[in-house]
Amino acid sequence: MIFTIAIDGPAAAGKGTLAKALAAHYNMPHLDTGSLYRAVAVKVLAGVAPADAARALTPADLAAPNLRSPEVGAEASRVAAIPEVRAALLAFQQRFALQEGGAVLDGRDVGTVIAPDAPVKLFVTASDISRAERRLSEFKRAGVDTDFETVLRDMQDRDARDAARDAAPMLAADDAITIDTSELTAEEVLAVAIDLIDEIR
Ligand code: C5P
Repeated sequence: MIFTIAIDGPAAAGKGTLAKALAAHYNMPHLDTGSLYRAVAVKVLAGVAPADAARALTPADLAAPNLRSPEVGAEASRVAAIPEVRAALLAFQQRFALQEGGAVLDGRDVGTVIAPDAPVKLFVTASDISRAERRLSEFKRAGVDTDFETVLRDMQDRDARDAARDAAPMLAADDAITIDTSELTAEEVLAVAIDLIDEIR
């Protein structure tokens, strides 16, 4: 059995932080699948057609300085609704998920589409308020000029788009375990996840 850890959930719920920490704990490679859609979005904002941008994506594109900006996040969720874009990114993500020794992937459709046979599927969520607070402090640290209301509204728009689209909508897999991180520190979330995973392992 290939030990894939699939982590899905809405924006700013703590998926990325948990995925990185689990990858370090189990000494496995980590893929932030959202960065692929963000990298496509950067190219689309520069005028490239979405499907062409996705087909031509290279590792260098994942190093774009503005990958985490609010504009790129919003555009990422628009390009992510295009079936040709998702199809162009699928094989790379599946190879990553199924590599020998296992891998940790976080995103929206990892447990449902990318790695439906993953032995560990987590759905990481949190209240809108705590997610918006966390995203706001990330933006502040990165020097982005914004405010709580804007971050909350953008995040809710993005979640609604991600959940409502026809192509691989954001969804907890039937066999996913949900972790609500609203009242937990990153360390507590990691401890909960490790307990769950070590039972399955
Ligand atoms: O996770 P992150 O916020 O960086 O993802 C940016 C956008 O990419 C999401 O809002 C979503 O539309 C899209 N995405 C996706 N499927 C994934 C990961 C991200 O559709 N597996």
